[in-house]
Amino acid sequence: MLDPMKSLEKAATDRGIRVDWLLGDMCGTPMQHSVKNLGHLDGVFHDREAWQSMDPQTIVYSVQWQEPVLPNTEGGLFWGSTTIEAGRVGDEYFMTRGHFHAKRDRGEYYCTVQGKGMLVLMGEDRLSRLEIMSPGSLHYIPGHTAHRAVNTGDAPLVFWACWPSDAGHDYDTIAKEHFSVRVLERGGIPEFVPEEPQPILK
Ligand code: F6R
Ligand code: ZN
Repeated sequence: MLDPMKSLEKAATDRGIRVDWLLGDMCGTPMQHSVKNLGHLDGVFHDREAWQSMDPQTIVYSVQWQEPVLPNTEGGLFWGSTTIEAGRVGDEYFMTRGHFHAKRDRGEYYCTVQGKGMLVLMGEDRLSRLEIMSPGSLHYIPGHTAHRAVNTGDAPLVFWACWPSDAGHDYDTIAKEHFSVRVLERGGIPEFVPEEPQPILK
């Protein structure tokens, strides 16, 4: 006779996905992985000269995630972690590119497990607000809201995220229009500074 507890245990082990919460590591499942170094982040930081003077191979952040269903599947979820290294380009802290979801109404959760940072949230009306990221902070990102995480500490900032499998990512809007605020280091502490008006491209 099959022991029901044993088969439950086996089923749990067979699925075999494990996370290391604090490291932001996952194993036991086919994983997607992406690393962004400074060279990939052309136009992201406001001080272009400072950006050009740095080694383009410097890693700024890495993401690992699992896609249990195909991208664009309605009703599924993706799960992953992001690690942003400590550092700055000039006076601007290392941060993610940031994006709206391609399907604008899709929301997301972020949960910080290590480090110190700020989550910049911007609505389609370009009004921005900040949430402080620290171990244990949970952030609900509503739909129609661009999001970017900024590492304001001197150690890696690590957070988990869960988002709909059909959310998609719109990076172009932010690449063209930027966030309406930047998090810059002023006198040793982070300050929330309005983005300079963008030149009108003809
Ligand atoms: C997914 C999500 C995160 C980010 C990651 C890297 O919707 O918000 O997993 O993708 O933190 O940031 P981006 O994608 O802005 O380079
Ligand atoms: Zn997102």
